[in-house]
Amino acid sequence: MSKTWGGRFSGETDSRVEQFTESIEIDRRLYRHDVTASQAHARMLAHVGLLSADEALQIVQALEGIAAQIERGEMVFSIKLEDIHTHIERALIERLGDLGRKLHTGRSRNDQVVTDVKLWVRDAIDELDQRLHDLQAALLGAAERNHDLVLPGYTHMQRAQPVLAAHYFLAYVEKYQRDRERLADCRKRVNVLPLGAAALAGTSLPIDREHVRKQLGFDSVAANSLDVSSDRDFLLEFVFDLTTIALHLSGWAEEWILWATTEFGFLNLPDAFCTGSSIMPHKKNPDVLELIRGKSARVVGDLQQLLVLVKGLPLAYNRDLQEDKRALFDAHDTVAASLELAAPLIEQTEFRRETIAARLEDGHLDATTFMEFLIKQGLPMRSAHEAVGKLVRLCEGRRCRLADLPPETYEAIRPGLGSEVYKSVGVANALHAFQSVGSTAPVEVDRQLRLWREKLIHHESTKEPEKE
Ligand code: ARG
Repeated sequence: MSKTWGGRFSGETDSRVEQFTESIEIDRRLYRHDVTASQAHARMLAHVGLLSADEALQIVQALEGIAAQIERGEMVFSIKLEDIHTHIERALIERLGDLGRKLHTGRSRNDQVVTDVKLWVRDAIDELDQRLHDLQAALLGAAERNHDLVLPGYTHMQRAQPVLAAHYFLAYVEKYQRDRERLADCRKRVNVLPLGAAALAGTSLPIDREHVRKQLGFDSVAANSLDVSSDRDFLLEFVFDLTTIALHLSGWAEEWILWATTEFGFLNLPDAFCTGSSIMPHKKNPDVLELIRGKSARVVGDLQQLLVLVKGLPLAYNRDLQEDKRALFDAHDTVAASLELAAPLIEQTEFRRETIAARLEDGHLDATTFMEFLIKQGLPMRSAHEAVGKLVRLCEGRRCRLADLPPETYEAIRPGLGSEVYKSVGVANALHAFQSVGSTAPVEVDRQLRLWREKLIHHESTKEPEKE
């Protein structure tokens, strides 16, 4: 098989070099986007007179046939042809002869590959947005199902203050919303057309980049040809955005692995999302959650690889850049797979309400709101903090709760308190005392639930899919 660039060479390529430099094993999954971009390029060539209308039509149709051939698994891939771009061009030449040899007019693989990757990333962003939406909907469903459940909230993994389960789930809805916004923002920079930059300097042929831009639905045309083929900023951003999602998933997985332990006993994980032990008959292990946590490390590694890859690369295209796709696809596939499992796992997990309720008064979840009660009674904050701290110490010694201390103890802090405090201490009182915006106050949480239902379910399910 002769190389597309073979003219300048008299000797054969060393087979070890072919093995070392090939990317077809990885970039073959860009075939659809490569065909789409080439079809747009062919139509543009006809528009400016570099091809006849009939020639462009033949090329467009042959490319469609090649895509179908790949989809049927009938394309023979060979490392001798390096990458997906060469494979498709070669197949076109086999079908159309000399006409096929005209397609690469006015373009280079350098602008071609960034165009393909951008088209691929754009689709991936749209698909991830849907997956994140579905995860948010699952979290919202869990928030609504467990509406009146009160959970201990933690800082430093120590019991801190009570929170509504709905507030807990909506915390993750917020995180995934930011992830969606980050992706939408990244999409703006993805959606700038590289094609037409050619190798690095542009071309002396009368191409019409605007014509290609419109066909492929890009927002604008990249302004500097020299910038185009070295630009992988959009990949760094995209994989960073994936990393943030992976880390959000991983933190949550860790939390639920703990909550599913006998020690916590908060959760009953669905059988369908757990596996057993080959030796211990009683085990039900949270492997899916563990792998969501474990696979996040791969995504972090992928980002690291890309950051190091572009470090110190001079303008313009350098072959190093070929290594970007393994990291891109791995980060994407890992996050997509985790998202796909996270949503149903959340839908099917049940809280052990009795276990949670039986221990809810442990750990002084009411101490901080009780301190705030004392502030409302006129004590300076630091005095109130110290007084409650001493009461908690007393409780620890007596193995009791603030609510179990006798009125005299409270009278000693301030006369008259003895009769009032019991309306403040205890988890239920503490929870209902919250009132700040964004807090776990029940009215506030209800307001947030309504807003999210409106945003995620009513609004997004009725909105028209965006047209390019
Ligand atoms: N397979 C290459 C890559 O992924 C395509 C661009 C190759 N360009 C070149 N001048 N060798 O980066």
